[in-house]
Amino acid sequence: MLNILIIGAGGREHALAWKFAQDARVGQIFVAPGNAGTAAMQRVRNIPLTRVADLLAFAQKENVGLTFVGAEALLVEGIVDVFQAAGLAIFGPNRQAAQLEGSKRFAKDFMQKYGVKTAAYASFRELDAALAYVQDCAYPTVVKASGLAAGKGVVICQNRAEAEAAVRAMMETRRFGDAGNEVVIEEFLEGYECSLLSFCDSRHIVPLVSARDHKTIGEGNTGENTGGMGVIAPHPRFGDAEMAAFRRDILEPTLKGIIAEGMDFAGVIFFGLMVNARGVYLLEYNMRFGDPETQAVLPLLENELLDAVQAALERRLDDSVFRWQDAHACCVVAASAGYPGEFRTGLPIANLERARFYAQIFIAGARQDCGEMLTSGGRVLNCVGVAPTAEAARQKAYDAIAQVQFDGITYRRDIGL
Ligand code: AMP
Ligand code: GLY
Repeated sequence: MLNILIIGAGGREHALAWKFAQDARVGQIFVAPGNAGTAAMQRVRNIPLTRVADLLAFAQKENVGLTFVGAEALLVEGIVDVFQAAGLAIFGPNRQAAQLEGSKRFAKDFMQKYGVKTAAYASFRELDAALAYVQDCAYPTVVKASGLAAGKGVVICQNRAEAEAAVRAMMETRRFGDAGNEVVIEEFLEGYECSLLSFCDSRHIVPLVSARDHKTIGEGNTGENTGGMGVIAPHPRFGDAEMAAFRRDILEPTLKGIIAEGMDFAGVIFFGLMVNARGVYLLEYNMRFGDPETQAVLPLLENELLDAVQAALERRLDDSVFRWQDAHACCVVAASAGYPGEFRTGLPIANLERARFYAQIFIAGARQDCGEMLTSGGRVLNCVGVAPTAEAARQKAYDAIAQVQFDGITYRRDIGL
């Protein structure tokens, strides 16, 4: 029996634990730190550890045979290198490959070097040079903090004044700390977005089913950006022609670059795509599963995730490692009132049992307190409907979320429309 350690605390990690728990080869599952959803599962134990050294000591003591890292921060810190040096199996990019997410400047230079189709860009370490550049670039333009900024370091600027303000907030006022030491300023691309998760073993890249995230808090893609308010999978507009363009213009050159740079790792590459009449463009690499994309994609996977992880670790990935249900998934996120701004926590959550009658529920920002489940984050839980049609999957997810109660529950009604 294989003991598995999953690192993270969101709905993504609950979905990963749920998937691994169905595998007869898996023994104990530990989630660090986990949430109320993973706490309630059979064979799953939450452990209150977040530092690399503590996680390593724990994995050694508890005979963990596989570690799966959910979120980006520890990957960029180099958790994969540390575990590998200790002889432990871990799925994720090493420190070098994690730079493809950890530094947008590094990622854009990589894309340019290997001919990956992406928006034109310039990068700056000096405030004055960045300010000079925005005086006569084309608008709208996109200003990005190069480092990790929890998805908040991207500003779409309509004119020079907005771009100047964005550059100053990052480089002068240091709104995102060291993440804004360097900025990338790039061409604004029209189109629709698509999330394409994949497994990579440095010799092959195998895509999972495509997904459409809904990033803004407001319906009709209005309002502030969030971590993601819902997903429909497969993506309703990303068809065979787009997939072929993606393989030719993005996947193949990325793989060539990974091989040429000697980035030897087994882990996830999540391609954030923009699709328009000129083709399929890469906005960014993430080197981990998406949240909430994972919650919609994993329920569509027919075989065990462990098959694909082991194939990747043994560098023998191929298209047969994923078998997909001929079905659609819709994930709707229930958030706290006020998110992505200020919100209250500690509010009791009711009627989850009734909601489970309609759809799969993955818990995100909630904790267990004396047998009661209380909100503890901005995105509280996910309702995931799976059905033969996208419309039926939506119906299940919305029937489920209509049951859930907590004070101020907020969700978009237009996921997958
Ligand atoms: P990123 O973290 O780089 O994916 O950016 C976050 C979001 O900003 C993306 O999901 C897009 O909605 C938007 N975005 C980023 N870059 C561009 C671009 N070049 N053109 C248009 N929108 C963009
Ligand atoms: N849902 C987008 C992300 O995980 O970055």
